[in-house]
Amino acid sequence: MKGVILAGGSGTRLYPVTKAINKHFLPIYNKPMIYYPLSLAMLLGLKDILFVVNRYDLHHFQDLFGDGSHLGINIQYTIQEEPRGLAEGLILAEDFVGDDNICFMLGDNIFFGHDLVKILQEAKEDIEKNGGAYVFGYSVKDPERFGVVEFDEFGNVLSIEEKPKKPKSNYAVVGMYFYDNKAIEIAKKVQPSERGELEITSVNEEYLKQGKLKVKLLGRGFAWFDAGTHDSFLEAGEFVATIEKRTGLMIGCIEEIAFNNGWITVEELEELAKPLRKTEYGQYLMEIVQNNKLQGV
Ligand code: TTP
Repeated sequence: MKGVILAGGSGTRLYPVTKAINKHFLPIYNKPMIYYPLSLAMLLGLKDILFVVNRYDLHHFQDLFGDGSHLGINIQYTIQEEPRGLAEGLILAEDFVGDDNICFMLGDNIFFGHDLVKILQEAKEDIEKNGGAYVFGYSVKDPERFGVVEFDEFGNVLSIEEKPKKPKSNYAVVGMYFYDNKAIEIAKKVQPSERGELEITSVNEEYLKQGKLKVKLLGRGFAWFDAGTHDSFLEAGEFVATIEKRTGLMIGCIEEIAFNNGWITVEELEELAKPLRKTEYGQYLMEIVQNNKLQGV
């Protein structure tokens, strides 16, 4: 499976902050927003990641992540000339994905929760074995702002609607999807919606029509933020700060994950930590280095 992370868009809901700066570089507490989806992809064991980016932001992404080799992964970029909608990301990923399955993530979505990776991993393995598509539902107070999934008592999807005026459930579809390779051809056939975008909900609707859309719910024990508004941006940052201070463990620390996955050595981790040593982030990495060197003695 390959990872595709959408990091283009226009970020108008965060104006004027994002008039000149792409939102994915804004800090969610102590690291750029885009670290969070990347870290989740890495936690799922994905080593091939494509970022879909705006042309004028490409070099910033390259400054931040390069080709990913320092993290033991392969990062590539593709340019989306206009924010024509999420489903266009699938079309733009065609060459990168080849005939593989796809983990499709939104760059402004932040997840946290016990066993999150296990739940996602189960969905990933199901797609790899049986094909189809997986979406994840999360109960929210304001479902009309999101794609909304309706399901029966057995977890079968009954409907999926984009920003419905009268939502059929309180379950928003979060910005993380697993697809088999057919998603690309499906995305190519999607027609622009009333707001002129190629909606990812249209891709999901097609899977639903074919009886191949599955949903898993992320229950009370999970936190999910779409950090695309001023309030949710602030809440996400506060949430990360609270958890990190309480536990002493970082959320979304890509260097730590690369090390834990065995993708970089302790020496390589130390090199990554050195330039960051004036920050708690760098000191956190240094602690991991020291603990591991001690264990190795
Ligand atoms: P949205 O938050 O739906 O759109 P946006 O980022 O343009 O923001 P706004 O609605 O405030 O104008 O996008 C969700 C994610 O997908 C976000 O990380 C940006 C990304 N995205 C793209 O990469 N390409 C697109 O065409 C769109 C619409 C979004």
